[in-house]
This record gives sequence, C-alpha cells and structure tokens, in this order.
Amino acid sequence: MEEISGFLAKSMLVQGGLLPTPPKNVKVLDNACGGGVVASVFFTSVEKPIDASMFCGDVNESMVASTAERIKKNGWNAEATIADAQALPFPDNHFTHTLINLGIQMIPDAALAIRESFRVLQPGGTFGMTTSSSPGWLESFEIAVDGWTTPPTFASGPVATKESIENLLMAAGFTQVNVQTVKFQHTDSMTHFLAYIREMFKGILVGSVGEKYEKYMRERYGDGNFALNWEAFVTTAQKP
Ligand SMILES: C[S@@+](CC[C@H](N)C(=O)[O-])C[C@H]1O[C@@H](n2cnc3c(N)ncnc32)[C@H](O)[C@@H]1O
Repeated sequence: MEEISGFLAKSMLVQGGLLPTPPKNVKVLDNACGGGVVASVFFTSVEKPIDASMFCGDVNESMVASTAERIKKNGWNAEATIADAQALPFPDNHFTHTLINLGIQMIPDAALAIRESFRVLQPGGTFGMTTSSSPGWLESFEIAVDGWTTPPTFASGPVATKESIENLLMAAGFTQVNVQTVKFQHTDSMTHFLAYIREMFKGILVGSVGEKYEKYMRERYGDGNFALNWEAFVTTAQKP
C-alpha cells in the first residue's frame, strides 16, 4: 500500500528538510528502499530545478531491479544498488542525508544499521527514519487470526517507543533527535485490502485461518470502503 509508505516518506522528507526545497547539492541514501517509494515521493514532490542525487539500497535483488526500472523510466537523478544497511558499501562521511522508511523493523541488527548510517553521513548531515508503531491491520489480527502473536518489534525492542528510538540514536552519536508520533486514517475498499493483506501474510492467512479472518473483516466493516487507524513514528536526527 504505497499510499501509506508514501505518506510516511513525505512526512520524513519534510521533517528532514528535503521537501519542499532541499539544500543545494544534497546526496541522499535511501536504505531498505523496497520498490523505490522514497525516491518517487522525493522526485515527484521536490521543487524544480534540483541538483539532488539519491542512492537507493536494498538487500533484495528484485526490489533493487524494480527501483532501478522506475528510476530509468522517470529519469530521476538516482541509482539503485544492492546494499545491506548493516554493512554499507560507501565510505565514511559520504552522504548529506541517510533515510530508512519503514525498513529498520526488518533489519536484524537495528543498532548496527543506525551506526552504519551515522558512519556514512557527513558531519552536519541529517538522518531520517519512519517506524510503524501500530499498523492499521494489527487490531484485527489480534482478534481474528488464530495463533497470531504480535511481533515483538511493535511491543518491545529498539524502535518500539519514542524513548527507545531516542536512546538508540543517541548511542550511535546522533544529536537533536526528534521523534514525532503520526496518527492517520487510511480508507480502502474491502476487496483491495483483503488482496493486499493476503499477499503480505501469505504464509499466515491460509485455509480456514484466512477464511475466518475474511469473514470477521466483512462482518465488522462491510464489503465497501472502510477506514483503519494507523500510528507511526517519524524520526530525524543530526550527525554533529
Ligand atoms: C517494508 S519494506 C520498506 C520498503 C520501502 N522503504 C518503502 O517505504 O516502501 C522493507 C525493506 O527492507 C529491506 N531490507 C531488509 N533487510 C535489509 C538490510 N539488512 N539492508 C537493506 N535492506 C533490507 C527489504 O528487502 C524490504 O525491501
């Protein structure tokens, strides 16, 4: 659901000073880029003319390939490359901005990834990150998916709370840590939502478990459009 990741990407880019008008000659790294949502939001929203460049890194080859295709098709000043956020293939003090949109919760060693982002940032550079604290589907999973246990990333761990995010970033050397809570509603059609959620949780929403979940959602919200409440943290910080 690119509307959700895109909404959070935009909040992060605005809070990090990259939108609407970035400083001159920014050199941005988008870690865990997935399908290139951050690049898309940045290059389609930024005020022109611009001299900004972006590197989009991800460990997943097919994600990198689809972002590279998107970059080529749209003519953005960007490059997509295989890059593990925990061992970045870039020199120290290289980028003006490093970003991770909805990615840190997928990375095994979050603290290492944050230290790597710090290392490749220039002094005075800006770090930006978004993390989902309560995705809209979570409540329905807790009620209607047999055997579901909420992943610890939402309840504990290094990015579960504002305080833990502040501690994580300050331990890596960041200053001016700014963690904003963002609450928003996303409206979707039941047909689109169920297709999306079945794809995202295809190992879980199978057989009778999937049928029970679908029945619960249709009974609770009907077959048309409905809204779910989402909550996330948008974080920015500075390398001194
Ligand atoms: C939820 S997606 C977010 C994608 C994108 N940032 C967005 O906003 O749509 C998480 C991404 O993290 C990537 N990822 C997981 N571990 C990684 C790592 N160690 N280094 C870089 N990317 C990683 C996955 O391949 C996946 O594309």
